Amino acid sequence: MELKFERVSKNYKDKKVLKDISVTMGTGVYGLLGPNGAGKTTMIKMMADVLRPDSGQILYDGRNIRSIGDEYRAKVGYLPQEISFYSNFTGRDYLEYSAALKGMEKSYTKKRIEELAYHVGLQNDLKRQCRAYSGGMQRRLGIAQALLDNPEILILDEPTAGLDPLERVKFRNIISAYSNDRLVLLSTHIVSDIEHIASKIMMMEYGVIRYVNTREEYIKMAKNCVWIVKMSAEKLVKYQNNAVISNVIAKEGVMEVRVIDDEKPFANAVQTAPTLEDAYLYIFNYLPEKARR
Ligand SMILES: Nc1ncnc2c1ncn2[C@@H]1O[C@H](COP(=O)(O)OP(=O)(O)OP(=O)(O)O)[C@@H](O)[C@H]1O
Ligand SMILES: [Mg+2]
Repeated sequence: MELKFERVSKNYKDKKVLKDISVTMGTGVYGLLGPNGAGKTTMIKMMADVLRPDSGQILYDGRNIRSIGDEYRAKVGYLPQEISFYSNFTGRDYLEYSAALKGMEKSYTKKRIEELAYHVGLQNDLKRQCRAYSGGMQRRLGIAQALLDNPEILILDEPTAGLDPLERVKFRNIISAYSNDRLVLLSTHIVSDIEHIASKIMMMEYGVIRYVNTREEYIKMAKNCVWIVKMSAEKLVKYQNNAVISNVIAKEGVMEVRVIDDEKPFANAVQTAPTLEDAYLYIFNYLPEKARR
């Protein structure tokens, strides 16, 4: 299976939100990273066929998804960034309703809801009104909804927002198990959510996909640019406004500061191996804009 964006653009009034995006995806997990307003949700909505490109096209195995229509949408599971629930729906009502919209058969629906509720840890909450769920529970219900009909293409817009650490790990495992011969695209701000499950990671900003690379390739980009520097808390408060800092650990009153810089920032700085998070900060906050193209 191949899903291809071909020179896809989108404007809101005169604002160019997506600029000539071209990317080809196959099976596997794709991570979509980028700062607020980069265009991730806009791209995702187009892939889910809930928003049309102004120009360009999206091809599923060579056919424009707009001309495939319902048959394409039936292959897609989609978790929007903002989910809304009918006021008095219980968790089960919501999933049954979603399954009916997808045209799923009743006995299969019942079995699938039990299975998925268990996977996302909501098996004891399906009778409760979902508006009374916590934010993380609503997100997990949304994830179950997206997975209902075993979609060939699973598109998740910030699926881990609001999930606690344990649920994040469970989510990653669900996605890893699911992605065999399917396409999963997920956007997130939490680099560690995709670091070890995404085979390809897209970095997007200002409506452009800057890179489609593996984790290892990004880490290579930030090679020799990550340093550990020890300093006092007072010094750090002044220093941090003019530096890109990826992490700070306080150890017995001394701050161990992780700094992104392509030159040794202090005489006592010690170079260290980059993580994907360091590479993200390097690309979006350090690398000059010109060099990102
Ligand atoms: N319906 C709309 N009308 C006007 N502008 C919009 C609309 N939807 C999105 N935009 C603009 O398009 C740009 C991209 O938005 P988008 O939601 O795709 O970004 P994002 O990468 O998903 O951001 P976030 O990380 O905050 O979710 C932003 O500048 C946003 O203000
Ligand atoms: Mg978004």
